Amino acid sequence: MAAFKVTIANTGAVIDCDANQRILHAAVGAGVDFPYGCATGNCAACISDLTAGEVAMMSYSDNALSVAQLADGKILACRAKPLSDVAVTWLGRGRK
Ligand code: FES
Repeated sequence: MAAFKVTIANTGAVIDCDANQRILHAAVGAGVDFPYGCATGNCAACISDLTAGEVAMMSYSDNALSVAQLADGKILACRAKPLSDVAVTWLGRGRK
């Protein structure tokens, strides 16, 4: 499975994320203190701006991410698998 590079703008970390791996899991596994709660697409704690690249979103609750937010470039890191090298900025914790 191909590994993509994920840049996490909040910390400057650049991590590897397999195509079948969720960005949140790759980040936490790499020691990044990425904000999250449910890790199942229901709470929105991991909501992030996707500032470069493309992801595939697994199923999630519309309450956590609206159609309008998705169209505006927001993703849920716990439900997003990379389709390319990507860059994200988490929006929780006041964009630390
Ligand atoms: S951690 Fe709850 S929606 Fe991602």
